[in-house]
Amino acid sequence: MANKVFSVKEISKSFGSEKNGNYMEVIKNISMDIYEKEFIVILGNSGCGKSTYLKILGGIESATTGSMELNGENIGACIPPEKLKKFGFVFQNNNLLPWRTAEGNLRIMLKIMKLKGEQWEKRIDEMLEIVGLLDYKKVYPHELSGGMKQRVGIARALVHDPDILILDQPLGALDAITRKMLSYELLNIWKKTQKTIVMVTNNVDEAILLANRIFVLSNKPAVITHEIEVDIPVEERNTMIGQNARYNELREQINNIIRATR
Ligand SMILES: Nc1ncnc2c1ncn2[C@@H]1O[C@H](COP(=O)(O)OP(=O)(O)OP(=O)(O)O)[C@@H](O)[C@H]1O
Ligand SMILES: [Mg+2]
Repeated sequence: MANKVFSVKEISKSFGSEKNGNYMEVIKNISMDIYEKEFIVILGNSGCGKSTYLKILGGIESATTGSMELNGENIGACIPPEKLKKFGFVFQNNNLLPWRTAEGNLRIMLKIMKLKGEQWEKRIDEMLEIVGLLDYKKVYPHELSGGMKQRVGIARALVHDPDILILDQPLGALDAITRKMLSYELLNIWKKTQKTIVMVTNNVDEAILLANRIFVLSNKPAVITHEIEVDIPVEERNTMIGQNARYNELREQINNIIRATR
C-alpha cells in the first residue's frame, strides 16, 4: 500500500455571516485520504465549491471547521506558511505575470520560496523541458498560445519540487482539440514527475483518462456524493482509450451521475 501523504478530515467552509444576512455554506464535511502518486480528480457543477476546496488544500484559504494531515502530521484548518512549499498550484486562469518571460515566471516562484542556487536554476530548464517549452523560455506570455500559457503554469507549479500538485481546471479555457492534446500531455507529465495530483475538471473524459480515483461533488454546499475507482491500467491510458470497454462503461456511469446532479 502506498503512503498516505495528505488527509482531509471533515472540512467545511462558509462565507459571510448570519448577522449580515450573507451567510453561505459552500463545503460541508468533506473527508479524503490521498496516497502518494495518486491522481485524484474532482468533478462537480459550476459554483459547487471546487475552487474553494482546492484553495483550502493548497493553503490559499483556511477551512471554517475540520482539519488536515500532511505526511501524518496534523496541520489544522489552514496549511501553515512553512508547509506551502509542499504544494504547487495551477489556477483556473493561468495567472502568469505578463511582464516576465516563461522562465521569469518560474524564477519568481523560486524567489518567493527562497530557493537559490545552481540546482534550482537548472530545474527551471528541466520543468520547461517537461512541458515541451524549453525553446520558449525567453518568450513573454502574450506571445504564447492559450495551451502554452497553461503549460508554463504547470511548469511553474512544479519548479519548487512540491509533493502535491493542485490543478484547478487547468485545461478549462482551451478549445476542444488543444484540450484533448494537453490532457495526454498531462498524463505524461504525471508519469515523468511521479507527483501526487489533485485536479478539478468539468470534463468526464479527461477525468477518466487521468484519474485513479474520481470524487463527485454535489451542488453547494458541496458534499462528496460518489467515489469512483478508475480501474484502467496506466498502459491502457493513451490516445486509443476511447476503444477500451471499461472506459466506456465508466463514462456512461459518471455521465449519468452528473446528469442526475444537475
Ligand atoms: N471569497 C469568497 N467570498 C464569498 N463567496 C465566495 C468566495 N469564494 C467563493 N465564493 C462562493 O462560493 C461558491 C463556490 O465557488 P467556487 O469558486 O468554489 O465554485 P467552483 O465549483 O469552482 O465553480 P466553477 O466550476 O465555476 O469554477 C460560489 O457561490 C461563490 O460565489
Ligand atoms: Mg472554480
